[in-house]
Amino acid sequence: MILVTGGLGYIGSHTIVELIKNNYEVVVVDNLSNSKREVIDKLKKITGKDIPVYINDLCDKKALRQIFQDNIIDSVIHFAGFKAVGESVEKPLMYYRNNIDSTLTLLEVMEEFNCFNIIFSSSATVYGSPKSLPIKEDFPLSTTNPYGSTKLFIEQILKDLYTSNNKFNITILRYFNPIGADESGLIGEDPRGIPNNLMPYIVKVATGELEILSVFGDDYDTVDGTGVRDYIHVTDLARGHVLSLKNQNGLRIYNLGTGHGTSVLELVNTFEKVNNIKINKKIVPRRPGDIAECFASCDKAFKELGFKAEKTIEDMCRDAYNYVKNNE
Ligand code: WQD
Repeated sequence: MILVTGGLGYIGSHTIVELIKNNYEVVVVDNLSNSKREVIDKLKKITGKDIPVYINDLCDKKALRQIFQDNIIDSVIHFAGFKAVGESVEKPLMYYRNNIDSTLTLLEVMEEFNCFNIIFSSSATVYGSPKSLPIKEDFPLSTTNPYGSTKLFIEQILKDLYTSNNKFNITILRYFNPIGADESGLIGEDPRGIPNNLMPYIVKVATGELEILSVFGDDYDTVDGTGVRDYIHVTDLARGHVLSLKNQNGLRIYNLGTGHGTSVLELVNTFEKVNNIKINKKIVPRRPGDIAECFASCDKAFKELGFKAEKTIEDMCRDAYNYVKNNE
């Protein structure tokens, strides 16, 4: 049985689809702080499975123990956590309390129940402003916001835990920029309110919910002056988790990206072409804390996991819009 924390969220729900396609049995714990209960029904429609879901907070140790008493958990995939960079700057204590406390509680209960296999959802944000590109897993780590720091601190907690007890198999997955949605159009990215991230903002402009996209700076030293990122389809990202599950072996760290960079304007132009729609946009000053360019070296994940992203930027743009059109 695989326990998926935050399994009703964007990446968690897509990973559950891939886990079930690979005949894993799944149980979910989610506190609905950034997800919706209706995702359970959507997952049933996609997979045909009734997935046991515990609506609990990971910081509730008693409730978490109950999950491990009710189920024989072989491995945990740990997605649960707050993830908005801007919000973390305004509310650092909430981020440290939630993201770190929940992880410590999870790890203590796992040890108590002799469950030693964990895959952790980390982020390319731990690389800060990279010294060169593409970014490799052994690059220096630094963060510029509390959200990123929670990821960095949790990586350190996991490394120290492994040193203290190498019964653990710990896989740290550093995501680049996940976008897109399951081909069914039933699940996808559903940020509440005004999105922080580029693709959900583009999509809300496409539906008319938001009036215009602000392009944060066109004076970077990049292909067209706008920010370059390594966008990876969320379904490819989910596949990376299944491959990690099959290859757990000690402490491992992998980038999950495509190895290619795409600029803001390139992404907008692709979205317009693929969906035959015009996106209103304006150039505004840079967003504080943004880096110019970021994309992954994917050699390690390919060599050790056999992971290679397959979907294109066109697929990501089509699927992202398809989801919203299906769920307006
Ligand atoms: C991408 C590019 C912006 C919005 C963050 C987190 C990272 C992960 C993904 C959680 C940049 C530009 C954006 C907009 C814009 N989150 N942009 N207008 O900042 O690379 O990464 O989200 O795990 O940890 O750091 O993603 O989508 O916010 O920005 O021009 O309205 O789009 O400047 O160049 P980012 P993003």
